Amino acid sequence: MAKSTSRYICQSCGDAFLRWEGQCRSCAAWNSLVETVVSEPSRRRRSREAVGGGAASTPVALADIGEADVPRLPTGLGELDRVLGGGLVPGSVVLVGGEPGIGKSTLLLQVAAGLRQPVLYATGEESAAQVRLRAARLDLLTNDPGRLVAVLADHDIGRIVEAARRQRPAAVIIDSIQTATVDELDGAAGSVGQVRESTVRLMDFAKGEGIAVILVGHVTKDGSIAGPKTLEHLVDAVVSVEGERYAALRLVRAAKNRFGSTEEVGVFEMGGHGLSEVVDPARAFLADHPEPAPGSVIAPTLEGSRPLLVEVQALVAPAGYGTPARKASGLDPNRLGLLVAVLGRRAGISLASHDVYANLAGGLAVGEPGLDLPVALALASSLRDRPIRADAVVIGEVGLLGELRSVTGLERRLREAARLGYGAAIVPRAGRGARAPEVAGMHVHEVATLRDAVEVALASPSGRHGEAVPAMLG
Ligand code: TYD
Ligand code: MG
Repeated sequence: MAKSTSRYICQSCGDAFLRWEGQCRSCAAWNSLVETVVSEPSRRRRSREAVGGGAASTPVALADIGEADVPRLPTGLGELDRVLGGGLVPGSVVLVGGEPGIGKSTLLLQVAAGLRQPVLYATGEESAAQVRLRAARLDLLTNDPGRLVAVLADHDIGRIVEAARRQRPAAVIIDSIQTATVDELDGAAGSVGQVRESTVRLMDFAKGEGIAVILVGHVTKDGSIAGPKTLEHLVDAVVSVEGERYAALRLVRAAKNRFGSTEEVGVFEMGGHGLSEVVDPARAFLADHPEPAPGSVIAPTLEGSRPLLVEVQALVAPAGYGTPARKASGLDPNRLGLLVAVLGRRAGISLASHDVYANLAGGLAVGEPGLDLPVALALASSLRDRPIRADAVVIGEVGLLGELRSVTGLERRLREAARLGYGAAIVPRAGRGARAPEVAGMHVHEVATLRDAVEVALASPSGRHGEAVPAMLG
C-alpha cells in the first residue's frame, strides 16, 4: 500500500498515480512510473536558505568573482587523489562505480583509514563484523583508523544522516547506494525511486554540512551504474574501478569530475592486504613472454597525461560451420569487425573464413582509436603466424580506406616506450607540414596506409616468407 507521501510519477509525461502500473495511463509509455516523495517542504526551504534566505540574489561581475580555493582532503592514496584532482572536496558527492567483487569496499575502507580524520562508514551490504574482518586484513585495526572510522551497519538514509549530523565526520561513505532506502517510499532497495531519493538526500546533507560523501554504486552487465541515469548527473564526480576480477590490476578513472580533469587514471594492485598503488604503471599491463609471439603487439596508449603500454593479443583460427566468430575483450567489438573488413579490402588480408579473437592483456579496457593499427597488425601477425619484432610499439587510427591517422601526444608516447627499452615504432605518417617525431634510441617507421604497415611489420627482411624470424629488423 502506498503511503500518502509517495506517488508514482511518469518520467515521460510527468503525470502522477497512486499505484505502480506497467504502462502510463496518460501517455501510454511503458515502464515509466517511478516512485517519488511528493511533498517535502523542508528540503525546498533549506535550499532557498542556502542562496540567501529567500531574498533576491545578486549577480556578480565575472571579474569580481574571487578565485575559488577548493580545499582538498587527501585520501592517503596518491593514485586516487590524482583521479579526483587532488583529493576529496568537502561538501561534494562522489560516486564510485564498479562490478561486484572488483574491490570498491576495500578501496573505500582504505580511504576511510587514509583520511586520518573521523569518517562514518555506513554499510547496508555487510554486517559490522564483516567490515571488521576486512579491516583486520587491511591492517587497520591498530593505530588511528581503528578509532577514527565509525561503522554503521544500516541502510536507512534518514538514520545514517542523523548519525552523521551527530558525529560530524570529515567524510561519509555509503556502501552501497543500491541498498540505501528512504522511509517514505515503499519500493524495494535498488529501485529507481529509492536510489534517486537516497542520493538527493545525501546531496542535501553534503552541501548543507560541507561534508564529503562517497557513494558506492554497482555496475550492471552493460557497464552502466545500476539505477537511474540521472544519478550520474546529480553527483559531482563519478569514479569507476575497472579490471578483471581474477587479475590483480585495478584501474581507477573519473568519468565525470566537477573539480578536476576526467583524463587521469590511477593504477592499483590487489594483494593479500588490500590495494596498493602502482607507482610506475607504464608497463604494468604487459603480459610476460620471453620471445616475440605471433598475434602480440605492444601499443603505447595515453590515459590522460599518463602513457601506458598495453599488449594487444589476437588469435585467428579457421572457422567451422556458420558465421565466423568475432570476439573482443577490453576492445570495442564493432571496431574489431570494421578492422577485419578493412584488412580484407585494403590490405589483402582476408579473414572472411576465420574466427577472430582479440583482447588486451591484464584485464584493461581502452577505447582510444589509436588501438586500431595495433589490433589490425596483431590480426595480420596471427594469420601469417609471424611475430612482430619484440621491441617494437605500434599506434595509429585506421580509416575506412585503409589510410592511417595520427594520434595525440605521439612524441610523449614514444618517449615513454623508449624509456622502457623499446627500440622501434610503427606510426602513421605525419600530415603535411608536421614533422616526424624524433625520439632518442628509437627507430620510427612512418607509414601512410594499413597495407604499408603490414609490409613493414611482417615482411621478412630477406624476402622469404613463412620463416619464424621477426621482421622489421631494419
Ligand atoms: P570487495 O572490496 O568486497 O569488492 P566490492 O565491494 O567491489 O564488491 O573486494 C572483494 C574481492 O577482493 C574479494 O574477491 C577478495 C579480494 N580481496 C583481496 O584480494 N585482498 C584483500 O585484502 C581484500 C580485502 C579483498
Ligand atoms: Mg562491497
